[in-house]
Amino acid sequence: CGIVGYIGHRKAYPIVLNGLKRLEYRGYDSAGIAIYDGKELRFSKTKGKVADLESKIEADISTEGTIAIGHTRWATHGVPNDVNSHPHFSNSGDLVIIHNGIIENYEPLKQELKNRGYSFQSDTDTEVLVNLIEDVQRKEGVKLGKAVQIALNQTIGAYAIAVFDRRKPNEIVVARLGSPLAIGVGEDEFFIASDASPFLEFTKNAIYLEDGEMAVVRTHKEMKVRKIHDDSLVDPYVQELQMNLEQIEKGGYDHFMLKEIYEQPDAIRDTFRGRMLVDQGLIKMAGIDDHIDKFLNAKRIIIVACGTSWHAGLVAEYVFEELARIPVEVEYASEFRYRNPVIDKEDVLIAISQSGETADTMAAIKLAKESGAFVFGVCNVVGSSISRETHAGAYTHAGPEIGVASTKAFTTQITVLTLIALQLAKKKGKISTSDFHTYLNELETIPEKVAEALTSNEHIEKVAEIYKDAKNCLYLGRGFNFPVALEGALKLKEISYIHAEGYPAAEMKHGPIALIDEQMPVVVIATKKGHYEKVVSNIQEIKSRSGKIIGIVTEGDVDVRNLADHVIEVPETIEFMTPLLTTIPLQLLSYHIAVKLGKNVDQPRNLAKSVTVE
Ligand code: G6P
Repeated sequence: CGIVGYIGHRKAYPIVLNGLKRLEYRGYDSAGIAIYDGKELRFSKTKGKVADLESKIEADISTEGTIAIGHTRWATHGVPNDVNSHPHFSNSGDLVIIHNGIIENYEPLKQELKNRGYSFQSDTDTEVLVNLIEDVQRKEGVKLGKAVQIALNQTIGAYAIAVFDRRKPNEIVVARLGSPLAIGVGEDEFFIASDASPFLEFTKNAIYLEDGEMAVVRTHKEMKVRKIHDDSLVDPYVQELQMNLEQIEKGGYDHFMLKEIYEQPDAIRDTFRGRMLVDQGLIKMAGIDDHIDKFLNAKRIIIVACGTSWHAGLVAEYVFEELARIPVEVEYASEFRYRNPVIDKEDVLIAISQSGETADTMAAIKLAKESGAFVFGVCNVVGSSISRETHAGAYTHAGPEIGVASTKAFTTQITVLTLIALQLAKKKGKISTSDFHTYLNELETIPEKVAEALTSNEHIEKVAEIYKDAKNCLYLGRGFNFPVALEGALKLKEISYIHAEGYPAAEMKHGPIALIDEQMPVVVIATKKGHYEKVVSNIQEIKSRSGKIIGIVTEGDVDVRNLADHVIEVPETIEFMTPLLTTIPLQLLSYHIAVKLGKNVDQPRNLAKSVTVE
């Protein structure tokens, strides 16, 4: 979920509404806003997107007022409907809250409140929290900030909240545990949001609350930040934001996803910048170099991640083992955290996360830290929770990724992980100096080669037209390109809702081959390097069962071209770098299919970009 709030001297509604639009990547099942105009507390909420809320609000209520809070939801407790949407009110109607996260012990709290006469309109844990705050206010006669603090100390779970009391209309109380919360500090005005994007055009000064901290933001007053559990005061660090508005706008593209696909040459270059010194034959990465002993002494590397980031982890497994000869295990963070894994002090855990906020990945990090392992983060969002929780890390520097289906985050994650693998291979003496130089030189050409791969866009669009009505699709790859097959299938599933499966090409004969008939498109990654002949045999197996073959091949390829129904070429490169190129046509193929089917590419149903619940 995403939350936004404003208190100050401007009209609050447009700020909060636009802010919610920017945060829709965090969820878009339902949305709501509450506005206070000095007399009345008005609100509107609805199932659907922020645009639906906008039309509803403007028809229903006055939008005047200099205080507002709003929410865009990704449902956890209770189906997405108008009643379950935020904001939620306390029984008296005085308190209003927006909440991102989950209150895990809401059932017993709800029962207790019911026994005391409270009633509930929604199925949400949030309505329980706002009534708990009201109950504390009543019983203890304390101010809002104190009541929020006492109530939060009775909860178990995760939250980023903003609470407003219409009887004290010069303040908003905010708190965070496990879900992100940024406060934009303007001149006698404050902005509250799940990330800084909603207030970029108003202020560059931001405070990111740490877990377990709360703040009371008041007009005409300095802001105080406290620890929720012991009330101690914290000196907040005001950070200057580097992000600009342009980076979070579409810039002429129809969709963020397409823009982000096309940004990949630059994004990969940004990932290298200052790290890969090709002339000197050097890689410099402070996060690795400062902790090199941890890596060199590591018995193994465990990679944890979710979704697309997990696929980047799988590519990294192949690259690390190939180059640095360090054993690597890759796990879904959600599995790892709950299966009592064996973690050794000599293990290095690498957590990969675009957002740096994924709850399961965060929990896996905490577990590894408790076991004494060294924890390294690969995140895109600067200052994110995971980047702060890890012992060290390397940012991907892809810039903001807004499209829910991850594209440039994936290729830049692979880039960072490749740099790490090369550095470790060199320091461990597993590759020769001349190979190291060759690899750096080749890696430097990857952005141009990605740009070249992008020139197949029109051809890919035509292929998309042919297969857009397929019900199922199979993606096959071997070696370094097996994870790319998984990622290609995930992309198609996510945005076009066509069922797709990624498989290691040779495993096909142990199952998926049964599905192949003339209706079934099979995308096969068959670049010249790496078991090419074996993949060609796999293609023959598909062809003899009348499957439709779309081959992703190296420029100038003949063999696959002779067999396949269509081929899409990518430039030639060193084998372990091929995923950076073969990924590109798969992204474009799923993009065009989804567009042709009329799907919402940037905000596919049921998904969210940043999953801060487990
Ligand atoms: C969600 C997103 C995916 C993403 C995954 C992990 O499911 O829709 O695109 O890969 O979360 O997110 P992270 O931010 O940790 O990389």
